[in-house]
Amino acid sequence: MTSITLAPGLTYYPDYLDRPAQERLLQSLREITREAPLFTPRMPRTGKPFSVRMTNCGPLGWVSDVEGYRYQPVHPETRRPWPAMPDQVLRSWEELSAYPHPPDACLINFYEPTARMGLHQDKDEEEFAAPVVSLSLGDTALFRYGGLERKDPTKSIRLRSGDAIVFGGPARLIYHGIDRLIEGSSDLLPQGGRLNLTLRKVGKPL
Ligand code: SIN
Ligand code: FE2
Repeated sequence: MTSITLAPGLTYYPDYLDRPAQERLLQSLREITREAPLFTPRMPRTGKPFSVRMTNCGPLGWVSDVEGYRYQPVHPETRRPWPAMPDQVLRSWEELSAYPHPPDACLINFYEPTARMGLHQDKDEEEFAAPVVSLSLGDTALFRYGGLERKDPTKSIRLRSGDAIVFGGPARLIYHGIDRLIEGSSDLLPQGGRLNLTLRKVGKPL
């Protein structure tokens, strides 16, 4: 397993999932989105829709609507519990997180070719001792990351299908986002686009 330290606490694993593993994960995600369809999150207060659609698996899922950002145990539209996290996802967390408890949330983001995600911090969790583990499938994305302040200088790297990135320790609260996709860069998703999974530990361990 190749790993590249991009900054203290920020580690990049190119080609973490080989093609068969990417296909297995994609198949699991298809089953998850049948149970828990992709929804369009909205910005707190303004209600402006995100360009990314989302769903979740695991005990808790991240949602956003006019009322704010939060984790909740049910899908915002079906009101059903989120589907279980696939074993493959749990194994990736065990291998990459260096954290002794399982994740309790896995956010699944789907990017159409024109979707993006503005610079933000992942800070809706209570347990910042656990890292965020991110897995990418499909088209390559330009991932931008900076420091702990929005105004800090940023760099960008390309996240390709099968790549993993982990931000923990001093990088747990870095600003990050997706500038754009590189359309047609992967043939994993028949219609193009990109799927990203972010695994988190939301609550403090008991
Ligand atoms: C996120 O920050 O939630 C997603 C990042 C990504 O799509 O790689
Ligand atoms: Fe994020």
